[in-house]
Amino acid sequence: MSRSAQSDRLICTACSHEEAIEAVASTCSICDGILNLVVGSHDQPTGDGLWRWHEHLPRVAPANRVILGEGSTPLLTAPRLAARLGLADLMIKNESLQPTGSFKDRALALATSLAKEYGRNGIVLSSSGNGGAAAAAYAARAGLPAVILVPATASPAKLKQIMIPGAQLITVDGATHDCCLLARRVAFELGYVNVTTTFYCPYDVDAYATIAYEMAEAEPDVVLVPISSGPILAGVMKGFERLAQRRLLRRIPRPIAVQSAACRPIVDAFESGSATISSHHRFTVASALNDTLQGYERDGDHTLRFVHRHNGSAIAVDDRDVLEAMSLLARLEGIIVEPSAAAPLAALPHLLANGAIRADERVVAITTGHGLKDMPDAVTPALPKPISPNMESLMRHLHS
Ligand SMILES: Cc1ncc(COP(=O)(O)O)c(C=O)c1O
Ligand SMILES: [Zn+2]
Repeated sequence: MSRSAQSDRLICTACSHEEAIEAVASTCSICDGILNLVVGSHDQPTGDGLWRWHEHLPRVAPANRVILGEGSTPLLTAPRLAARLGLADLMIKNESLQPTGSFKDRALALATSLAKEYGRNGIVLSSSGNGGAAAAAYAARAGLPAVILVPATASPAKLKQIMIPGAQLITVDGATHDCCLLARRVAFELGYVNVTTTFYCPYDVDAYATIAYEMAEAEPDVVLVPISSGPILAGVMKGFERLAQRRLLRRIPRPIAVQSAACRPIVDAFESGSATISSHHRFTVASALNDTLQGYERDGDHTLRFVHRHNGSAIAVDDRDVLEAMSLLARLEGIIVEPSAAAPLAALPHLLANGAIRADERVVAITTGHGLKDMPDAVTPALPKPISPNMESLMRHLHS
């Protein structure tokens, strides 16, 4: 279909077929390929939340914009942690301070707004927990029903976060990829929008591009991103690319994709230089990064295109390093994030050692989810025994 250059549209990255935005499509209707959103050159009013970046987003009438105060997260210097790691200039883009405590709020703000704009009757999503928590909150705010499929092993705090706003939580005795394939079927059967935050939801990428707009002024040399299938990395890099095209950015930073050693399909593809092959499912404390990509391996290749285009790299970190990084960030900077969000910091010593980053570069780590969502026992010391309510026992305790 040929459409005006002014309108928002989706172009298939595999066969170039064009989908109208009104369909709120998930994948290409011809070949099932990954869709790339092209934002038209229209004028739409600015607004709160993500809509501060209205000129980079598809058109949504202000009345249909679903806003909970997402975006505009702090970009913090981390001098004590930097010194500990031997870096001159480390910054934290703290996405854990989003309305539901993770960067997924950006994606769900845009996807639910589009579902409303185009009169869809519900949303469905597969998630390791954070996407589900965001979908539940934004669906409630939009007045839309939401079906959320999550592996039964997800963090209990995340499961409760999904249930409290009234979403229909379905726990699945399986892995994230099982939930993902079920979500596609539900979208088809119920006519819901599939807002699964893999590349099955093509709107996420442009929602995450707003992370780049918010940190462009800092001009990072390197950006570290924890990924499972990688829309966050694709989105951040698409954002930098768009700013560079408009001459609003001098140079695009190198992306570093960080995965868990227990689930590293994209790192394996990066290291072997071949196509992504799905990995086996194993336990990791970085539960939000535990997507084997089985059935949508092409997501890994799509993410790697952004890594290669900008001279980036990919690295896997083991659970012990992740827990250590989580504690260090809390103890040295007062920032409590979930294990998956600490993975980029866990990678830093290895990246310095193997020369992927230099000690004098400006490094930004994106911390993607809040620690209150997922606190492994390994990082929470045993609670102190209560003391008697008098100074003597207090002083004895302080000096012990
Ligand atoms: C805390 C956290 N970090 C990172 C990711 C990975 O992001 P993506 O799915 O865009 O690769 C997720 C995804 O669930 C997440 O919840
Ligand atoms: Zn196609």
